[in-house]
Amino acid sequence: MLKDKILIIGACGQIGVELTLALRKIYGNNHVVAADLREENPLLKGTGPYVTLDVLNKEMLHVMVIRQNITQIYLLAAILSATGEKNPLLAWSLNTQSLLNVLEIAEIEKVKKVYWPSSIAVFGPSSPKVKCPQKTILEPTTAYGISKFAGEFWCNYFFHRYKVDVRSIRYPGLISYKSQPGGGTTDYAVEIYYDALEEKKYNCFLKEDTYLPMMYMPDAIRATIELMEAPAERISVRTSYNIHGMSFSPKEIAAEIKKHIPGFKITYNPDYRQPIADSWPQSIDDSVAREDWKWKPEYNLESMSSDMLKNIRLKKVER
Ligand code: NAD
Ligand code: SER
Repeated sequence: MLKDKILIIGACGQIGVELTLALRKIYGNNHVVAADLREENPLLKGTGPYVTLDVLNKEMLHVMVIRQNITQIYLLAAILSATGEKNPLLAWSLNTQSLLNVLEIAEIEKVKKVYWPSSIAVFGPSSPKVKCPQKTILEPTTAYGISKFAGEFWCNYFFHRYKVDVRSIRYPGLISYKSQPGGGTTDYAVEIYYDALEEKKYNCFLKEDTYLPMMYMPDAIRATIELMEAPAERISVRTSYNIHGMSFSPKEIAAEIKKHIPGFKITYNPDYRQPIADSWPQSIDDSVAREDWKWKPEYNLESMSSDMLKNIRLKKVER
């Protein structure tokens, strides 16, 4: 039997680096091809094949899928919420055209599985704020959210019409130390740990009481792989699954950091990202994912903060 060969597009981003390394452990280094517009991330160097690819170049993508015998595609290339508000049409065109290119090629070449992440940005001010359900009003007000909303329904369409086995998760804000976040509204929850260690202070671009759904990267990587490995008959949602890790405000994460760095101080200077955050839910109901493919998070604010601070300190020592 032909062993699976995976293509990860956007492999040098915040999620891509860790997902590539995790999938290489499972499938073998040469069975996971990392692709991105940018230069190869140093953490990926020497761990497996790397190609420079613009996902908007459909012909090149198609040739690569055929030549490399790709059987699974993970599409991570996107413009995130904060950068998206600076250039809304660019966010729309990259986020939706990349997905359509991948879905069409997957259909033609009978690619076995496709993964594409959605986001909590698919919700808007009219969605319930607390424990936002799987099925609810979806009226996003950001360009990024609109592109994720449309993308979810394209996934659903390609599954039902062409039987493309495409799977998706609505990630909350993701927190990690291996590679830097790329222009999201939830990025403050990564920056705060670095600034706390380097300067013992952080100037937050969101208000102190802004609660958002968040997740530590190891949980997000595990969720992604568990969803992709689940038997197809367990997948009842073909738009995108809600998953939840934790919910906290800048004031609460600062209080947690203070337990490790007593002199740490936070100030607040809300900017254009505040209305984006205000348009999203504060927490997510993930009961459908828990039921369908047994999703369960492992980290909370306390365990994540200890792990983040320990690993950022280690990175500094190694430098
Ligand atoms: P990122 O910005 O860190 O990484 C995206 C990568 O895509 C970058 O390395 C970039 O160079 C690459 N890319 C951009 N344009 C490309 C193109 N034309 N061709 C090939 N590569 C291109 O993003 P991320 O945080 O890793 O997010 C990955 C996915 O997960 C996105 O769809 C994002 O919307 C989604 N998501 C992320 C979060 C989060 O908190 N990080 C939350 C919800 C959803
Ligand atoms: N973390 C992402 C962002 O803030 C949510 O999709 O854009």
